[in-house]
Amino acid sequence: MTEAKADLAFTLEEATAKISDLIGAIPAVLTEYRCPLCEKVFASYADLKQHYAIDHVGAVPPVTVMLTLNGKNCEVLIEPHWTLKRTLQFRLGLTGAKHMCDKGVCGSCTVIMDGRAVLSCQMLAVECEGHEIQTVEGIAADPKWKPLIDAYCRWDAMQCGYCTPGFVVSAKNLLDHNPNPTEEDIKEALAGNICICGTYPRHAQAILEAVEKMKEGAVTNG
Ligand code: FES
Ligand code: FES
Repeated sequence: MTEAKADLAFTLEEATAKISDLIGAIPAVLTEYRCPLCEKVFASYADLKQHYAIDHVGAVPPVTVMLTLNGKNCEVLIEPHWTLKRTLQFRLGLTGAKHMCDKGVCGSCTVIMDGRAVLSCQMLAVECEGHEIQTVEGIAADPKWKPLIDAYCRWDAMQCGYCTPGFVVSAKNLLDHNPNPTEEDIKEALAGNICICGTYPRHAQAILEAVEKMKEGAVTNG
């Protein structure tokens, strides 16, 4: 195995630790205000706005938004039209919510907002202020959901894997509301997630196994 390939080979535990580090590294507040038009950096939002008034007359300045992501507050500087998906990917380095259709039809960008599965490509980030958002990274880093991630790996419920984060988020949202789902419940909950590789049967098998493992864990842990 070449060195580059060796770097890509890590265990599920190592992957979970990397995700926790990634979430932990997101700063809570902005420390620099970079102009998206000319890349000049300012020490405060007021300075950036003044720069727009002088140097980019007529352009719409970026806005600051405070998001609550995976239980953590973080302030971001974005253009007002940015979607939550774009903000997650390009400001916060959270690439789990995938860019597939960008039209609200495939489910690959699913996140949970205030206990409801929503499509991050259809939400403006500014609309998300004051709401609790959970991404697939937060789910993967939470030991409670390890049986779900394990079951997805064990059942190989993916081919290219591009749609998989969206399925996992929808599955977690289902189990939050219905910890003992039937196969029909699972099909209904995942109906908004499209997999062009056709992995559909494996998702129900993985989720049903995760449910059993979580029950066993609950009994064992008392
Ligand atoms: S990328 Fe959001 S629904 Fe397809
Ligand atoms: S595994 Fe490839 S799109 Fe679903």
